Amino acid sequence: MDLNALRNLSYGLYVVSSMDGGRPVGCIANSAMQIMAEPASIAVSLNHDNFTTKCVEKTGKFAISVLSEQAAPSLIAKFGFRSSKNTDKFQEVPYEKYDGMPVLKECCTYVICQVTDKMETETHTVFLGSVIDTQFLKEGTPMTYAYYHNVVKGKSPKTAPTYIPPSEKTKGAYICTVCGYIYDGEVPFENLPEDYVCPICLKPKSAFKKEE
Ligand SMILES: Cc1cc2nc3c(=O)[nH]c(=O)nc-3n(C[C@H](O)[C@H](O)[C@H](O)COP(=O)(O)O)c2cc1C
Repeated sequence: MDLNALRNLSYGLYVVSSMDGGRPVGCIANSAMQIMAEPASIAVSLNHDNFTTKCVEKTGKFAISVLSEQAAPSLIAKFGFRSSKNTDKFQEVPYEKYDGMPVLKECCTYVICQVTDKMETETHTVFLGSVIDTQFLKEGTPMTYAYYHNVVKGKSPKTAPTYIPPSEKTKGAYICTVCGYIYDGEVPFENLPEDYVCPICLKPKSAFKKEE
């Protein structure tokens, strides 16, 4: 079995959000898909360790903001590599509430769902949501998971259902221990300035480890 073959499955890139009382919360997810047309229903798979999962559980509602190719890597770093438990991710990120759920103003489309069912797996809860509102918001090409990997050169953390551990090929490379980004610049990693930061999750040079 070659788990890399699963990379041929296609996905989009989204911010799945909800509310923690009066505070907006959310995380990056690629695992959203439409399950049926009537009533329009979407499923999303959220890790048990994500704070957003607990809030979707409590409110019984979630929003999906469809990211465009223009989405800043720093936005993906904030929503995909930090936890809403101790970070106010929506600070400095323009958003508006629809049906009480926070939606990123920069997204191409939003979808608001009411949870109708869920399935537990060992690591993730799969929420099924009935669509209660959806609209186009901004012009833009939706970002695919492949675009994120191939063009943005982004990585996925262990909490993503599609996470694949680093392979043999990465031996000797410097890898960010926070987001898995593999340094591939022309300047040898050792010669990078001390204020170098990971382009994906913005962690300092000291967060990188040489893969032995
Ligand atoms: C490209 C990418 C895809 C991801 N996909 C998922 C996903 O489908 N499900 C999930 O639970 N986490 C996924 N994650 C991880 C969460 O976004 C991450 O664990 C986040 O820090 C959780 O934040 P929270 O604690 O505020 O909920 C993904 C992250 C990235 C960068």
